[in-house]
Parts: sequence; structure tokens; C-alpha cells
Amino acid sequence: MNNKIAALKKEFPALGSSFSGKRMVYLDSACTVLKLRCAADAQRRHMLELGGCGGKRSFHALAAAMEENFSAARSRVASFMGAGTPEEIIFCAGVTDAVNLLANSFPFTPKRNEVVLSPVEHNAVFLPFERLASAGKVKLRVVPLKGFKPDLEAYAEILGPRTALVCLTHASNIFGGRMELSAAADLAHAAGAYLFSDDAQYAPTHGGSGALYGADACAFSGHKLGAPYSTGALFVKRELLGRLRPWRVGGGTIEDVSVSDGRYKVKYLGNYQAFEAGVQNCSGAAGLAAALDRLENCGFENIRAHVSCLVDDALKKLAGIKGVRVLGGREDLLEGSLISIVPEKKGFSIPDFNLYLNHQLKGRFIALRTGRHCADLACLSSGYRETIRISFFAYNTSEDTAVFVQALKKYLSLLK
Ligand SMILES: Cc1ncc(COP(=O)(O)O)c(C=O)c1O
Repeated sequence: MNNKIAALKKEFPALGSSFSGKRMVYLDSACTVLKLRCAADAQRRHMLELGGCGGKRSFHALAAAMEENFSAARSRVASFMGAGTPEEIIFCAGVTDAVNLLANSFPFTPKRNEVVLSPVEHNAVFLPFERLASAGKVKLRVVPLKGFKPDLEAYAEILGPRTALVCLTHASNIFGGRMELSAAADLAHAAGAYLFSDDAQYAPTHGGSGALYGADACAFSGHKLGAPYSTGALFVKRELLGRLRPWRVGGGTIEDVSVSDGRYKVKYLGNYQAFEAGVQNCSGAAGLAAALDRLENCGFENIRAHVSCLVDDALKKLAGIKGVRVLGGREDLLEGSLISIVPEKKGFSIPDFNLYLNHQLKGRFIALRTGRHCADLACLSSGYRETIRISFFAYNTSEDTAVFVQALKKYLSLLK
């Protein structure tokens, strides 16, 4: 473990917590990353030392200090995502919130109303568009799976003059690896469509966003980077942003309201301002900016290299274990931060195994995720109904994997 990673590891206090007297081996970072001390401190400081009226509403000294802090956080996020300007950044509660906003604001037209989803989209992306499709507002097309990734060649057949938006998860939360976003962006653009990239699993261990690979819109969740819950951002390129129709409307979004002949005329503000209705999560944004500072200070290249090594090490430790199968190939998995495993031995019960990891290990428990991982499209396309997922972040070590692999072998040995 290099010095920068070792120093970063010390800043996640939850790693030292015990639960019912047991120490934790945390292999569930794809669900959420443990929280950084500096992010919690920044949020707390913001709440206690500022904590006033924000969002350009009032004009007093406290409001000015709030606004200064909030726009610094927006600039921080813009530079992390690779946005052209902070005005392209809409603060939101994470990817779920971002996609609901995008889906319901998007300028679909009767002639261009098709949304093309990859077969590994998270329900956070699938469901908002599925709702629109059920209401007859859009038509959904799902690209077939090839191996454990979307079949790139199939895009050419599916995309066309009716395609409005292509959605691609930058890194899958069920099969791991990383997607070829630039190629998908080129295909979408050639069809006159926009590309949205879900960076939920990409941002934490690669840094940056789909904006750097040609996406017209992309989003990440702060809690997956050690920042406070319900923080995150949606980037929308200026040209597309100008075409979105504000969806969640309310205070802080309008330039003017007038009335004539009993009809109101509402003029919305430009850029992000029309999309952040209500008083924003300013203290969360301060925590998010602090988390990004800390991770960039460590260096995303170091985080990536460390996580890749952990995946490699886990693949080696899992190789040759009879009774389970790792999904996906080594080269692909090294580009991600997680591994999904499926049982093959008769009698292996995933819920029982989970109980075993939580209750039968001496002095510790292993936190990981089992099930469908909110990736129902991927489960439907692949036929795998559930998997055991181990996922890594900067604080994990080879020892964590060793504990898991030993427990897995022991559980398998208990099966008749
Ligand atoms: C790939 C992917 N997209 C979207 C989401 C949803 O993120 P959030 O729950 O933070 O909105 C997740 C969460 O696990 C995810 O893994």
C-alpha cells in the first residue's frame, strides 16, 4: 500500500468501529463508501458556523458568506467532473435524483422519443424512463448483452432518427469492469442523439466523469466517494441544458412572474438555477467539496492502481475454488472495482452464506452485498438471478479479501 493510500485509509473512522463486539471487514463500497472525516467535519462546520439563508435569496453578510461557500463547492464539482463551466452543474441528491430530473425535463418530441438503455443500467436509470414509457411518452429500447457488457455492434442497428437519448452505465455495479463510453458517445452523436453516463460506480475509483469521454450529461453520488449522503451532481452540457424544461419547480428558480388576462407568465432563470428548486443542501455540498479535495490530494491514479491490484489479488485468491464461479474476464474486471460470484455447488444458499458471514466468524463479520443489486435489467438479460458481490475502495487490503476467501472456502466445506 503506497504512503498516500495508507494516509487516506486513516481518515475513515468507521473502519475502526465494532458492531456487537465484532470487527468489520467492509467489502460493500459499491453500495456506499464509508464516510471521510474531513467531509463530516466540513459539513458540521458549515452547519454550525454558517447555517443561514443561502441560494442568493437574502442580501446580508451571512447570506453572502453562504453563497461564496456554495459557489466554491459548485466550482469544485465542475472541475472534478470536467465541466466547461460551474453553470453546467446541478446539485442533486445523487444519481437517482439526477436521472429522475433528466428524464422528466428532457426535450422529447413525437419524432424523437426513443431512449436506448444498456442491459446493465441500474434501476436508478431504468425506472425513471420505464415510467415515461408506461405513460406512452417515450419508447424504450434495450441493447442486448454480449458477455457481461452491452453489445457495441448492436447500437448501430438500434440507434436511428428516432433516438433521443442513449444511457450507459460507465462502470457496472453488478458485473464490474468499465464501459467504452467514447465509442457509445460517437454512436449516439452520429444518430443525432444525446448520451447520458451514469458515473455512480466510475467516479469513486477513477475520478472524473463521462463528460471527459463525450457524454452530454452525467451524474455521480457523493456518498459513494466518502461524502455526505444525499449529495451529488448532474452535469448537463450547456446546449442541452438550455433545452431542458424545469421539472421540480419552486423557490429560487425564477427570474420573473407576470400576469395578464388572468394568466401567469413564468420566466425561469438560466442554467442550473432553474433546476435547484427550494433551499439547497449547502452543508452537504461543503462536505462533498471537502471529500473531492481529499481524494484528489491522494490522487485518483493511486486509488485506481490500488483498487485494480485488489481486484487482481482477489481473482488470484478465488481462482480454482470449486463450487463458485467468478463472472467476467480478468482484463475487464481489473478496470472496475468489484467482483460478482455465483454459486455452483448444490446446497449453496446465498442468504445462508450471508448469515454465515455475519454470525459465524470469530470476532468479525464480513459486510458484502448479495442479490440483484438493483440491476434487474442485467439479471433479466444474463439469467443470473442473484450474485455475491465483493467491492473495494482505497481503504481495503489484501487481508480483507483473504478473510472473505477463507470464509467462503469454509462455508463450501460445510456443504454436503
Ligand atoms: C451504477 C449505479 N447507478 C446508480 C445508483 C444509484 O445511486 P444513488 O442511490 O446514490 O442515487 C447506484 C447505486 O448503487 C449504482 O451502483
